[in-house]
Amino acid sequence: MRSSGGLLIIISSFLCLFCFVALLFKIFHKIWWTPNCIQKLMASQGIRGPPYRLIHGNTKEISNMYKEARSRPLSLSHDIFSYVQSHVHSYMEQYIFLSSVYRFEPHEYPDGISKLETMSMILNESLRLYPPAVAIPRITGRVVRLGKLIVPANVQLLVSVLAPHHEPQFWGPDVHLFKPERFSGGVAKATNNNVGAFVPFGLGPRTCVGMNFATTEAKIALSLILQRSSFTLSPAYIHAPYQSIIFRPQHRLQGCRRLGARSPENEKRASTSLLKRLKVKAFSNYGRPSKTEIFHKIWWTPIRVQRLMASQGIRGPPYRLIDGNAKEVSNMGKEVMSRPLDLSHNIFPVVLPHIHAWTKIYGKNYLQWHGTLPQLVVTEADLCKEIFTNKDGVYLKPKFRPYAKKVFGNGLPALEGEKWVKSRRLANHAFRGESLNVSCCSSYVRNWSL
Ligand code: HEM
Repeated sequence: MRSSGGLLIIISSFLCLFCFVALLFKIFHKIWWTPNCIQKLMASQGIRGPPYRLIHGNTKEISNMYKEARSRPLSLSHDIFSYVQSHVHSYMEQYIFLSSVYRFEPHEYPDGISKLETMSMILNESLRLYPPAVAIPRITGRVVRLGKLIVPANVQLLVSVLAPHHEPQFWGPDVHLFKPERFSGGVAKATNNNVGAFVPFGLGPRTCVGMNFATTEAKIALSLILQRSSFTLSPAYIHAPYQSIIFRPQHRLQGCRRLGARSPENEKRASTSLLKRLKVKAFSNYGRPSKTEIFHKIWWTPIRVQRLMASQGIRGPPYRLIDGNAKEVSNMGKEVMSRPLDLSHNIFPVVLPHIHAWTKIYGKNYLQWHGTLPQLVVTEADLCKEIFTNKDGVYLKPKFRPYAKKVFGNGLPALEGEKWVKSRRLANHAFRGESLNVSCCSSYVRNWSL
């Protein structure tokens, strides 16, 4: 009895000892072995950093740096990196810029980035085939003369960006091929001086203020990625360019379902709400509309505008009561989405099937109806240029719909008149090449020639 009690004590002490040693081993593994292994592995690939310290890593140094940065008064400067992320700033200087691969010269001009000619050509060709903004809207503030046309007030002008970008007349028979070398002599040469033929960032006074920023950012990001990795097309890739506010791949993350993806119920709900919205839109300006006002809005004005434009040779799909051409547009979209798309850059018939089909039937500029709103679709490069240049200030930006207002708020894209002039002046200054101050990034691309 006594001997079995002793055995039990020995076994349980052995188990306790074993658990204690295992725990010690686990702790040792977690706080010493794994961090050192990771540090060594990264160092062997040229990635250095502040040495790992037992248990707390670099948290103490980071916290001290923060305290030190916060204790200094900050001058009224945009150079906030060293203030907000003092540890990243300090470590980058120590372990990246001073390393043998990257040398940092503080006042270097960012010519390294502007010299990435092949990359500029590739970005331009991508923006030509897949412009993020496929069409840019304007609205006529009063009766205007556009080319030879007289356009009444309150007509929406839908300036197509995609159409001139895919027009064989400008780009030749290989228009649907990805050929960055067409931009080797610059944009003017590639377009044969047709200013309206390549407008991914718009044109004229309201051209994209972030153009320099966007292209520089893309070049820096791509140069960093391409120096370390290469790409090949995934076998799971499904070619489905898709327009929803901006132009993007429909299957953003492969294997992930888009929230609110199109199911038959969603489609039904969407089309009913569209109909509702159009009806509300048709009457929204009126408060309690009288019968005459309703008749005027949904029948008289559309028919009058249609006749006026037809008398000037501008044709289009006939206006249908309240809906305009919304149903046809939606059906054409559904029809295209139901077909599989081959791996081609000829995406105009897929992304804007109605504009593609109707320009073929009715000509380069035609009239279509978004509910009761007349839309003059303009694909002719000269007219696009005239609208964008907006010499007399008659082509206004349409008011944002509620969902777009949530995105843009009362920012620059939503402003008009004096307010826009003031804000644009400030934004122009902030987005100038010199203000962007990308000098530190040129070291990323110094030894790289693409
Ligand atoms: C590839 C990237 C981008 C493309 C293709 C693009 C395209 C455009 C286009 C076509 C317009 C003109 C809209 C019109 O005429 O009504 C525009 C305007 C504008 N963009 Fe961009 N954009 C890009 C990136 C950016 C970035 C990165 C910023 C800011 C950081 C930006 C800020 C703006 C602003 C503020 C306007 C309104 C300008 C005004 O109304 O005066 N964009 N953009």
